[in-house]
Amino acid sequence: MSNYHIKSLEEYFKIYRKSIREPELFWEEVAEEHFAWRKRWNKVLEWDFSKPEIKWFEGAKLNITENCIDRHLLGKGEKTAILFEPNDPKEEAQHITYNSLHKRVNQFANVLKENGVKKGDRVCIYLPMIPELAISILACARIGAIHSVVFAGFSATALATRINDCDCKMVITSDGSYRGAKTIDLKGIVDEALKECEGVETVLVAKRINSSINMKEGRDKWLQPLLDKASTACEPEIMDAEDPLFILYTSGSTGKPKGMVHSTAGYMVYTAYTFKNVFQYRDGDIYWCTADIGWITGHSYIVYGPLANGATTVMFEGVPNYPDFSRFWEIVEKHKVTQFYTAPTAIRSLAKESLSYLEKHDLSSLKVLGSVGEPINEEAWHWYNDNVGKNQSPIVDTWWQTETGGIMISPIPYVTPTIPTFATMPMPGVQPALMNENGEELQGNLVEGRLCIKFPWPGIARTIWGNHQRYKETYFSAYDNKYFTGDGARRDAVGYYRITGRVDDVIIVSGHNLGTAPIEDAINEHPAVAESAIVGCPHDIKGNALYGFVTLKETGESRMQVNLRKEINQIITEHIGPIAKLDTIQFTPGLPKTRSGKIMRRILRKIACGDTSNLGDISTLQDPEVVQQIIEGRAALE
Ligand code: PRX
Repeated sequence: MSNYHIKSLEEYFKIYRKSIREPELFWEEVAEEHFAWRKRWNKVLEWDFSKPEIKWFEGAKLNITENCIDRHLLGKGEKTAILFEPNDPKEEAQHITYNSLHKRVNQFANVLKENGVKKGDRVCIYLPMIPELAISILACARIGAIHSVVFAGFSATALATRINDCDCKMVITSDGSYRGAKTIDLKGIVDEALKECEGVETVLVAKRINSSINMKEGRDKWLQPLLDKASTACEPEIMDAEDPLFILYTSGSTGKPKGMVHSTAGYMVYTAYTFKNVFQYRDGDIYWCTADIGWITGHSYIVYGPLANGATTVMFEGVPNYPDFSRFWEIVEKHKVTQFYTAPTAIRSLAKESLSYLEKHDLSSLKVLGSVGEPINEEAWHWYNDNVGKNQSPIVDTWWQTETGGIMISPIPYVTPTIPTFATMPMPGVQPALMNENGEELQGNLVEGRLCIKFPWPGIARTIWGNHQRYKETYFSAYDNKYFTGDGARRDAVGYYRITGRVDDVIIVSGHNLGTAPIEDAINEHPAVAESAIVGCPHDIKGNALYGFVTLKETGESRMQVNLRKEINQIITEHIGPIAKLDTIQFTPGLPKTRSGKIMRRILRKIACGDTSNLGDISTLQDPEVVQQIIEGRAALE
């Protein structure tokens, strides 16, 4: 029995037990068997959640790109590593072999070096889903630079905040991007952002849409001519196990976005291990994750996890509804995709369209279907199972987070019996705990509480860039000696986990984490706004819709309210991006607050979602009358 590849339920239980009893031995064996190390570790694990400090494979030396590329060259050099499917189905797909990926990453790495990027420097990558995105990530890792990918749907302000937070000296972008029938002026957004970013010395620009853009002399350089001149050889920088590999920002319920820092060795071992098992990847499979690499799902399960296993990973530039709603299924058929990993939002939006989009394509290559990013509702689960999987492909409902680096709770297909909406059982090495309000761990089954993890796993983020104190407060202070996830969960009669959703002020909209505070801060910048509160309400497709309560400095401006709504959404788009626009805006004379001035979101959530039957005790509010006014205002909106 190999620890690395779980093939039966019996093996799962055996391996899981071992991973809990002897975690160090378990991970040591995994690391030893399946990766290339320049130097072995001195110690497998050192940890202290009270500091918090977590170190895996300390003393080991490696380069992750040697593991993701070089070691596959012998034997798999001509195998497709990245299969790029463009936005426009008329444009040909590109098969980038491991040999070719090796050359292209090395060339890119040399361009980075020639432009002054050194080990430890931060490089911001703001690119659409084109091969240069994966290649630039790997090029950074090749030379030990820390990449910080910013999702190319974020606004200039959001981009600038992220560039400045970790002092990036370079930005890699493109002239623009395709998104269905639209094009987006990415370079224009970068130019706008860089007005606020003094530390950026160089901008490398990939050509994608051939638009005419401004190139700032001395700062902006076209990428391709530099790549053409660069050598295809680049020795990898040898990194320490705990050296940061990348920073990826995630929204918190308060404050600015958190730059989660992931390490090199632990992250590599964890994403590779979970990829292999959760997707039961076998040589010859064509694996496709539809996420954007701008999110953690893309980092771990488009780039690092698949490549560390020598897999073929599909990278899709486009959207599910262009040219029409059959695009995903057409790609599955065309490339004979075996594992398909997407988000409930995408499933729900496709499920509302005619089945004919799906039925005209041969989906018989599929073996595993994945879901990630938010709870998958029962209806969507069945639609996915019946129509896409034809009841033959197990669905893996994978629960994890930007912070966890890789999948934490998930069925293993063909191993774990699945139940709709249940993420089922923890991955080896993962020790979940459910906590009650008094901070006690709930024992046994049939319990519901706040989800914590009580032992480190190799993929956990090690800190928040520049703010270790915030890391400690956010994740390790709610419960003693435990990592707190921010999610609630239930354990059923057989010990399966069902994630019930966020228990903090993070709202997941279309699979994107949005903190309420950053949106409120943006709205409050509007000169007419006094204050605001955002809540989430269930939405058929997006999972949650955003509902904003806004109080104005001067009342009686109703004739202006249509414009104000537009302006508020405009401000949100500028500060964060279109993903955070509000679905509903209700102007209200006041907000329900406790005597100490805390906004009672619980009440607002109920009113927004149309459930006013039981608002609880409102007598302790500063101004209980405001509740009735808000209820009436909500009714008037309909
Ligand atoms: O609330 C959980 C939800 O997404 C959050 C993490 O979001 P993010 O860091 O953006 O990472 C998303 C991709 C891993 C979690 O705290 N979430 C993620 N997967 C699931 C989920 N909720 C329920 N079921 C899931 N499978």
